[in-house]
Amino acid sequence: MEKKKFYITTPIYYPSDKLHIGHTYCTVATDAMARYKRLQGYDVMFLTGTDEHGQKIENKATEAGVTPKQFVDNIVEGPRGVKDLWKLMNISYDRFIRTTDDYHVSAIQKIFKKMYEKGDIYKGTYKGKYCTPCESFWTESQLVNGCCPDCGRPVVDAEEEAYFFRLSKYADRVRDLLVNTDFLLPRSRVNEMVHNFIDPGLDDLCVSRTSFKWGIPVDFDPKHVVYVWIDALFNYTTALGFMNDRYPDSDYEKYWPADVHFIGKEIVRFHSIIWPAMLMSMDMPLPKHVFGHGWLLLDGGKMSKSKGNVVDPYILAERYSADALRYFLLRDFPFGTDGNFSNELLINRINMDLANDLGNLLSRTTAMADKYFGGTLPAEQAEGPEDAELLAMAKALRDKYEADMEKYAFQNALADIFAVIARANKYIDETAPWVLAKQESDRPRLARVLYNLAEVLRICTVLLQPFTPTTCVKIFEQLGVADELKTWDSAANFGAMPATATLHKGANIFPRIDAAKELVELEALEAKAKAAAAPAEKPAEKPAAPVAEIGEHEPEISFDEFCKVELRVAEVRACEAMKESKKLLHLTVFDGERERCILSGIAKWYKPEDLVGKRLPIVANLAPRPMMKGKYVSEGMIVAADTADGGCSIAFFGEDVPVGTRIH
Ligand code: ME8
Ligand code: MG
Repeated sequence: MEKKKFYITTPIYYPSDKLHIGHTYCTVATDAMARYKRLQGYDVMFLTGTDEHGQKIENKATEAGVTPKQFVDNIVEGPRGVKDLWKLMNISYDRFIRTTDDYHVSAIQKIFKKMYEKGDIYKGTYKGKYCTPCESFWTESQLVNGCCPDCGRPVVDAEEEAYFFRLSKYADRVRDLLVNTDFLLPRSRVNEMVHNFIDPGLDDLCVSRTSFKWGIPVDFDPKHVVYVWIDALFNYTTALGFMNDRYPDSDYEKYWPADVHFIGKEIVRFHSIIWPAMLMSMDMPLPKHVFGHGWLLLDGGKMSKSKGNVVDPYILAERYSADALRYFLLRDFPFGTDGNFSNELLINRINMDLANDLGNLLSRTTAMADKYFGGTLPAEQAEGPEDAELLAMAKALRDKYEADMEKYAFQNALADIFAVIARANKYIDETAPWVLAKQESDRPRLARVLYNLAEVLRICTVLLQPFTPTTCVKIFEQLGVADELKTWDSAANFGAMPATATLHKGANIFPRIDAAKELVELEALEAKAKAAAAPAEKPAEKPAAPVAEIGEHEPEISFDEFCKVELRVAEVRACEAMKESKKLLHLTVFDGERERCILSGIAKWYKPEDLVGKRLPIVANLAPRPMMKGKYVSEGMIVAADTADGGCSIAFFGEDVPVGTRIH
């Protein structure tokens, strides 16, 4: 019989920077799902990749002084790049697509043309606002206080020739899809899409650009490049050979439509409105589900490179193992909602669940089998009254786990497994094997207790394979489990292991971590990584920039260069003197979006109480700077003038200037 198929995808990530723990989270979840379906016997296609076109990448490459292709090649294929990270994390993808791959490029051109020939893409004029100094188009909604969001200068009305997709034509069908089917998950995301985007009226979508070059040219009108989201979304089909010869068409026929696209909540709009509308236009089947997972937050805010607050998955996986990181990500954060990441949570989770509960159960079981029976259990075994509850839980586990996995509730599936593991540890205390070992007549009972523990461990390990694949191999080895007893079927069959099983104690699978020590070390490592990422820093103890004397001037800069300095009005929320330094004040300022820490060398001239509640100018986009040997990270600079007597003076703003206002 032909195997049932399962097609699952991650977003294709932008290689504009190194990937962080947020990207790793989604990819690990997708990998767990893919491995689970393979365990169940499905023919799985697991696709991931990188979304390599667009203005942002073009700009990044220019900054780095390389071509866009060289830039993305380095991030995708280079040392500690995307592919290296997935290797380290043990990601079992079947295919990796790069949108710069030739087959994808030509397929997108054909797809664009097909929608054009059908009349769903048409040429029109894009009416918007234009910032002449920046040479960029903006829509009304992108403007900040009616001005250019990049430089803050006034904009003018402008028109540009562009292609549009008739999104409005599909509004009713898409609305029906969202409201009346379970296409978009979790269900809680449907309302936002319908009320915020569809019901106010869907405008046709501008799907070409002429303002930059790094994209796929429209082949019949090459001064236009295809909008990056069209290029990106169709990756899910071009990677199956759709409209290209790189992969056989039979892959498309076999795997499309996808069973589920896993994506983060910020791109649900593209996947649940634009994507189905374009597929409808192409007369292609729709994916069965789109699942919009939550964000990993740091201190309550989204991680992002521009904020300099990202967590490096490389450091964590290399230190604690990919399995520990995989387990933590899927155990601690319910997949559909946001969660706060911290190193402390990670370490506690590894210690509690992996080192204590699972690690101890395995080492106690195998050590006792070694000690009391030289490893091999005798055939003569005796049941006891303590068995019933543990066996009932172990026998019910696979079905419960399956129900959770089918809902993508990874945290619940893992909680189910660890409830059985906790019960097994309690069973050891109840049956007290060390007491049984004292009486020759209790040996059959002792043998059965150890057999039950081994069987429970075997079943839990079968079900843990999608999450901690490397560790499961080691556990099976210590339990002496044959291949046919590592299968999905065997997980529903308590007692499948021969009574005379041979166990042997091996190395600790998860060594316990010294939490206090590790937390300090991790912080230092992360501060070091941050400092390395911002090489142009001044020495840490000199927070003030060198000041020019009157009559002395910096070299002339262009207007664009000036615009790169983001000056904003911030409010001082808290301010303290520092015991580590007489010169510095430790300020917590609110920049209109979030609070940030700034260490400023103004303690000689200002008292903390003079500053709290005041509005003052800060440089908001200065690279974060570790100070005090990495104990603090200063995230900005206060703008102040030197006074004639060698002091310092800050220009404060009144209440009439809103916090967060850009200064130019
Ligand atoms: O949006 N928490 O790429 P991208 C959880 N190229 N998940 C996070 C996260 C966080 N803090 N940060 C990122 C793009 N992610 C487009 C996608 S698909 C056709 C095109 C994960 O590099 C999450 O899955 O910005 C999110 O949707 C994805 O990374 C965005 O990656
Ligand atoms: Mg993004």
